[in-house]
Amino acid sequence: MSTRIAVFGTGYLGATHAACMAELGHEVLGVDVDAAKLEKLAAGEVPFYEPGLGEVLRNNIDRGRLKFTSSYEEAAEFADVFFLGVGTPQKKGEFAADMVYVDAVIETLAPLLTKPSVIFGKSTVPVGTAERLGKRARELAPIGDGVEVAWNPEFLREGFAVQDTLHPDRLVLGVDRNVRGRAESVAREVYAELLDEEIPFLVTDLATAELVKASANAFLATKISFINAISEVCEAAGADVTVLADAIGHDVRIGRRFLNAGIGFGGGCLPKDIRAFMARAGELGADQALTFLREVDNINMRRRTRMVELAREACGSLLGARVAVLGAAFKPDSDDVRDSPALNVAGQIQLQGAAVNVYDPKAMDNSRALFPTLTYSANALEACEGADVVLVLTEWLEFLKLQPSDLDSVVRNKVIVDGRNCLSPDDWRGAGWNYRGLGRP
Ligand code: UDX
Repeated sequence: MSTRIAVFGTGYLGATHAACMAELGHEVLGVDVDAAKLEKLAAGEVPFYEPGLGEVLRNNIDRGRLKFTSSYEEAAEFADVFFLGVGTPQKKGEFAADMVYVDAVIETLAPLLTKPSVIFGKSTVPVGTAERLGKRARELAPIGDGVEVAWNPEFLREGFAVQDTLHPDRLVLGVDRNVRGRAESVAREVYAELLDEEIPFLVTDLATAELVKASANAFLATKISFINAISEVCEAAGADVTVLADAIGHDVRIGRRFLNAGIGFGGGCLPKDIRAFMARAGELGADQALTFLREVDNINMRRRTRMVELAREACGSLLGARVAVLGAAFKPDSDDVRDSPALNVAGQIQLQGAAVNVYDPKAMDNSRALFPTLTYSANALEACEGADVVLVLTEWLEFLKLQPSDLDSVVRNKVIVDGRNCLSPDDWRGAGWNYRGLGRP
C-alpha cells in the first residue's frame, strides 16, 4: 500500500530516507529550508557523495514518486505521515546536542496539521525529546490529539546508506504508551516490504527507542577506543595490534568488526553523539554511569596526537618538512569531513610548520571549505611529490592499491605512516621503504 510521506531534512539521513521510502513504493515529498540543496535534489543530483543513492533518487523522481519542496504548507497538505531527519549538532562550547532544527520542524509543522498525523522522529536526540515534542505538537496542532510523535531511530552508516535503509539489521519503533495511537500500524504499512523480509521489528516506549540509538553509537565508539587503547600498549610492548584484533575477533562474543586500530573515529555522529549522551545522563542525575565515555573520547583524540608525533619522528622536525596526506574524509566511500581525524591531523601538522599536501578521492571540496589553508593536490602522486613522509589517513581502496614502485621516484624520502593499518608492512618494507603503523612494531 502506498503512503503519502513527507521527510523533513535532506542531509545524509533525510535525503536517503526520502529516496528509499519512494523506492518502497510510497509517494514522498522531501522538505528542507536550503533552496540550493532542494534544487540539486529535484534535478536528480545528490549534494554529497553516497554510493548508489543517485540512482535511487533519479529512478523515483522519474517515476513521479519523489518530489522536493521548501513549503511546510505543501507538506502538511500532501502527507499524513512525517519523518523528521534534521541534524542535531553539538552545541558550541558544550557537550549537549543542539535541538534548534528538530524543534523548528515541530513548531512550524504542527500548527498546519488538520488531519490525523503520525510524526516519526529519526534524528539522534537526547532521551526525553520525543515525549516533549509529542506534547508540544498536540498543543500546537488544530487536530490536537490527532497528532502522534513516535521515535524510529536511524542506524545507517555513510557509504552504505541505501543498503542500511532498505535492508537494516533491525527496525526500532518507540511509541508513546500514554497515547492510544496508530504509530505502530502506520510503521508496519510503511515498512511492509522490510517486515516481509523478516527484519527484526522492536516496538518499545519512547525513551527506550531514543536510548537504543545513543547506546549503539556509544558501544561502537567504545569498541574502537578499546582497540586503540590496546594499540597504545602494543606500541609500548612491541606487539602487533592488527594480529591481536584478528585473534580476539575470532571469539564470537567479541567479533572482529570495529576493531580496526588507527587514528580513530570521527564523522558527524559518533563524536558528538557520545558527548550528547554524557550531557544528557548528567542532566538526568546518572552522570557517573557514562564517565567512561569521556575516556573513550580521550583515547580517540590521543590517536590523532600520536599520528602527528609519528609524522614528526619520520621527518626529524615538522618545521619546513613536506608532508603528503592521503585521505581527508572521516572514512572511505564518503566525502564527509565533519570532525575527520584525517583533516584534523593534516591541520595540526601544518600549524607546526610543515607544508601539507592533501589528496582525497571525493572530499576535496568539503576539505577546502573547512581547511582552506592546506594545499590540495589533484591526485595521490601529486600530493606525494617531494614528500619527506607520506601519511595514509583514510583507507580508500585507491590508496590500498598504491604500490611502492608508484611512489619510489616521486617522494624525497621513502617513509610511509599508515594511520589506518590498511597497507601491507611487508610489501612496503620489502621495497625499501620505512613503514610505520599505529600499534605495530
Ligand atoms: C555511525 C554508526 O556506525 C551508524 O550506525 C550511525 O547511524 C551513525 O554513526 P558513520 O558515522 O557513517 O556511522 O561511520 P562508521 O562506519 O560507524 O565509522 C565511524 C568512524 O569510526 C570512522 O571515522 C571510521 O574510520 C572509524 N572506525 C570504524 C575505526 O577507526 N575503526 C573501526 O574499526 C571502525
